[in-house]
Amino acid sequence: MKRILVTGGSGYIGSHTVVELLKTGCEVTIVDNLSNSHRVVLERIAAISGQSPDFIEGDIRDRALLERALKHSKAEAVIHFAGLKAVGESIELPLKYYDNNVNGTLVLCEAMQTVGVKNLIFSSSATVYGSEAEVPYREDMTLGRATNPYGASKAMIERILDDLCAADSDWSVAALRYFNPIGAHESGLIGEDPQGIPNNLMPFISKVAVGQLPELAIFGDDYDTPDGTCIRDYLHVADLADGHVKALKALSKPGYHVFNLGTGRGYSVKEMVEAFQRVTGQPVAHRIAPRREGDLAAVWADADKAKRELGWSADTPLDKMMEDTWRWQSGNPRGYAQ
Ligand code: NAD
Ligand code: WQD
Repeated sequence: MKRILVTGGSGYIGSHTVVELLKTGCEVTIVDNLSNSHRVVLERIAAISGQSPDFIEGDIRDRALLERALKHSKAEAVIHFAGLKAVGESIELPLKYYDNNVNGTLVLCEAMQTVGVKNLIFSSSATVYGSEAEVPYREDMTLGRATNPYGASKAMIERILDDLCAADSDWSVAALRYFNPIGAHESGLIGEDPQGIPNNLMPFISKVAVGQLPELAIFGDDYDTPDGTCIRDYLHVADLADGHVKALKALSKPGYHVFNLGTGRGYSVKEMVEAFQRVTGQPVAHRIAPRREGDLAAVWADADKAKRELGWSADTPLDKMMEDTWRWQSGNPRGYAQ
């Protein structure tokens, strides 16, 4: 499939995936409401790729806009990144998250069905495994009770897509459960640019290093892990982007397919801070703080299925993830904001 519509394509993971899609000769149309990204990302993609994706500013809840975009682009498949992803905010504003993520996906699927496009890759999350699952997480595990509306929205959407494929065998869906994507394109031109104070570890570390934030609070060092800090499965965003290119091939088979996109190994918070300082030579001021509500001690993927069925694995080493993060952050201390 060569004509791809990408929702949320000017966001962190979407922009990196669009670069990979263009590199493989795909024609790309982005639909994004710019609620958590910037138009300048399109210029950066063009600078990297030597070509620009088509861009339609709009909301995935606008069915008429989606139908026009699908028809005009002649899309053969949709990669669906558009969504809100802040766990804490989802607890405060559940309706905003269910409307944006769940209703938005329903409208997208209805528009796709009307136009006759029934190939979809969906951005799911390791958070759907819930808080009781044993590591390493495997795709055939029964999903646990999500601990927040954000995670619940992802699990609901997975169920919707599974039911859709069961009802109509023309549909082919790949739900990709991302673990912890970090890093930036090696050009340093695109990267993670959270608005306000970052929720996630890596952008927080890099903003402390570049002087945008004073100090990293390490949320707890009394977990049942080797050094007491939490362990996560961090993968390079470029590897994650490559996983989407390879998942397009899975769409040749009808039905609902689920894949973990992780490395299969974990690093602790302290190991991440140490690696960043070692690789970049930049000190990261940090202190031990109380645990963060809802954090799990250890999370990492069983990554065998994607390797076996997609021929995909995330092999970029931790040091390169740190190197690429710093090249982006040091070149763009305030992210895309000029
Ligand atoms: P991001 O916020 O950088 O990108 C999301 C993009 O979607 C943004 O450009 C935003 O403007 C757009 N968007 C949001 N709601 C929209 C709407 N209603 N209509 C049109 N555009 C809309 O986030 P990201 O880190 O690139 O994540 C992409 C997807 O992957 C999200 O669905 C997220 O839940 C999921 N995910 C992310 C992570 C992670 O750690 N970053 C992990 C697992 C899953
Ligand atoms: C990683 C580790 C923190 C910040 C989240 C979402 C998940 C997915 C990925 C969307 C944890 C510690 C963090 C800080 C810290 N997003 N930490 N100080 O929590 O594994 O997953 O992002 O799908 O849904 O839950 O990632 O980067 O927030 O935290 O000590 O300032 O770093 O306690 O152990 P997490 P994270």
